[in-house]
Amino acid sequence: MKKTLLLLTLLISTLTAHENRLLFFGNCIACHGEFGKKVAPHLSEVKGYYMMAYPKKEDFVEQMATWVFRPNEKTAKLPEAIEKYKLMPYLSIDLDTLKQIATYIYEHDDFGGLE
Ligand code: HEC
Repeated sequence: MKKTLLLLTLLISTLTAHENRLLFFGNCIACHGEFGKKVAPHLSEVKGYYMMAYPKKEDFVEQMATWVFRPNEKTAKLPEAIEKYKLMPYLSIDLDTLKQIATYIYEHDDFGGLE
C-alpha cells in the first residue's frame, strides 16, 4: 500500500511537471520563442529581469503570474520592451494556470531557440 502511494505521488508529480511544460510551450512560445518574426523579448531575457527583482521562487511566481494576468505598463519590469513591441496582450488564462506556467519558467531554462 505504501509503495503504491509512493508510486502514485511520483506519477502525479511527473504528470504535473509535464503539464506545466505543455502549458508553457502551448501558450507563451508563439511570441516569446525564437522562430519567425520577433514579436516579443525572448523568455530567457524576461526571466533574467524577474530573477533579479524576485530571486525567491514564491515571489517570482506570484509577481510574474499576476503581471501576465493583467499586463500593465506601470508595473512592467521591462518597460523598454513595451516601447519596442507594445504591451503584451491579455491572454484569457486563469491565474492558477499562470502560476503553473511561472513555476515552469522559474524551474527551467529550456525555452526553445537559442539557449
Ligand atoms: C501574443 C504574443 C504574446 C504571448 C502569447 C505571450 N506574450 Fe509575454 N509578452 C509579449 C510582448 C510583446 C511583451 C513585451 C512587452 C511587454 O512587456 O508588455 C511580453 C512581455 C512579457 C513579460 C514581461 C513583463 C514585464 O514585467 O515587463 C512576461 C513576464 C511575459 N511576457 C510572460 C508571458 C508568459 C508567461 C506567456 C505565456 C502564458 C506569454 N508572455 C505569452 C507578447 C506575448
